[in-house]
Amino acid sequence: MNDVPAPSKRRTRSGARLLLGGACALAITVSSMAVATLAHADLSGPPGTTLKAAAERSGRYFGTAMGADRLNDSGFLNIANREFDMMTAVNEMKPDATEPNPGQFDFRRGDAIYDWATQHGMRFRGHTLAWHAQQPKFWAGLSGSALRSAMISHINGVMAHYKGKFAYWDVVNEAYAENGSRRSSNLQSTGNDWIEVAFRTARAADPSVKLCYNDYNIENWTYGKTQGVYNLIKDFKARGVPVDCVGLQTHFTGGSSLPGNFQQTLSSFAALGVDVALTEADVTNASTSQYQGLTQACMNVPRCVGITTWGIRDSDSWRGNENPLLFDRNSNPKPAYTSVLNALNAASTTVPGTTTPPPTTPPTTPPTTPPTTPPTTPPTTPPTTPPTTPPPTGQPGGCTAAYRMVSMWNGGFQGELTVTNGTTAISGWTVQLTLAGGQTIANVWNGSNTGNSGAVSIRNAAYNGALGANASTTLGFLVNGSSNTAPSNISCTPA
Ligand code: G3I
Repeated sequence: MNDVPAPSKRRTRSGARLLLGGACALAITVSSMAVATLAHADLSGPPGTTLKAAAERSGRYFGTAMGADRLNDSGFLNIANREFDMMTAVNEMKPDATEPNPGQFDFRRGDAIYDWATQHGMRFRGHTLAWHAQQPKFWAGLSGSALRSAMISHINGVMAHYKGKFAYWDVVNEAYAENGSRRSSNLQSTGNDWIEVAFRTARAADPSVKLCYNDYNIENWTYGKTQGVYNLIKDFKARGVPVDCVGLQTHFTGGSSLPGNFQQTLSSFAALGVDVALTEADVTNASTSQYQGLTQACMNVPRCVGITTWGIRDSDSWRGNENPLLFDRNSNPKPAYTSVLNALNAASTTVPGTTTPPPTTPPTTPPTTPPTTPPTTPPTTPPTTPPTTPPPTGQPGGCTAAYRMVSMWNGGFQGELTVTNGTTAISGWTVQLTLAGGQTIANVWNGSNTGNSGAVSIRNAAYNGALGANASTTLGFLVNGSSNTAPSNISCTPA
């Protein structure tokens, strides 16, 4: 990670107007209201004079991270309010903080940060749900299916609390080793599919939030770890595992520096169909060229949605002795601040979907010309004989369900069902199956079950019931039990 910084390509822009005023975020400031709306991109506007205004020109955000201790720090809060439009909690939403004891959740410190941020017009990145570090103490006594279940319960419990409120969640953090293999951890020991299970659980828990994989040292395209994570995301996208974004922490501290191929890394991930974001940026001694280069790389990749620095002032940094942030200890912007601001203002790409103005007022006048010609040929004879036998599954009007064992361990397994529709669109489906004796369903995602042993039916979730002709979707479930016998009598019924 010692490549030279990307070359500088500074551009300036002439002033025009910003669509929605100075800082054009449509911020929702009441915590009970869901995610604040993203800014409307307008590259023809005047340069932004704050980080967030400059980022919003291209439909991006500029974020920071804060601990609950900063809620009493007016110096921090003043800059946060002025410059940033996305917030991450440094430690307060990590597993040890949110679930100190089994099933006993504590959101007080996380909520305090969330409330302050959203009351000041910011959106929120959740960090993080499943990680080898900062785990609840009680996870240390768990392994195998018990730890797997604890992880799933944790994701469900935390995401239920913040449902509909966040823009992004770091579902899994730092699961890869430097050589591109999986990092060994207690979560990894529950089975190689733990990341997939985490994402499927997360999607079912809150379909509204973008689900991210987040890691450090994945900025250099040729590095083993980068390739490992890239292959994970590629595999997930190919198999329909729900992942929406990759967070590149961008810690160019502790010996790391900006690689010359950073933009290639960002665009390669984006080409898989995910958003990318720089989620924890800091740079040794706040090198202006590295800050400029990392910002420009993001601005050059349409699906690079934003940049977060891990703190505001050097005194906020986890690596404070490297003075790696954009503001000094007296709250003054450093030269790197200006280089970032200029690179944000020089963006030439916008985030897809941010250039269309949001809907304004619905039309007030009804259409003046009603349809003049009524249908000429009304249906003549209704069918006299209703069908006596339901169509076989997989035929028009039917659906089929195919089972796959994803992974097994001593005392349980994870199964997957692929529901495939016939040739007529349907609005819902139910899968029936029979579990072997002694088996119990512990969790279902992308569907909800009735019964958890013996004869079980699994109904679609709200978001995956509608299937077009021949379309398919998958659901997953965890089973506890002494045998790994596959479910029998599997069938599918359209709603
Ligand atoms: O709160 C206790 C305090 O009571 C105790 O007196 C003190 C003694 O050491 O520790 C305090 O907890 C510390 C906590 O930060 C809050 O300050 C922990 O020891 C310390 O380990 C913890 O460090 C955090 C680190 O994650 C843990 O891995 C950093 O603040 C936080 O910035 C850092 O953030 C991570 C991201 O989540 C993931 N990417 C890397 C990034 C930097 O390490």
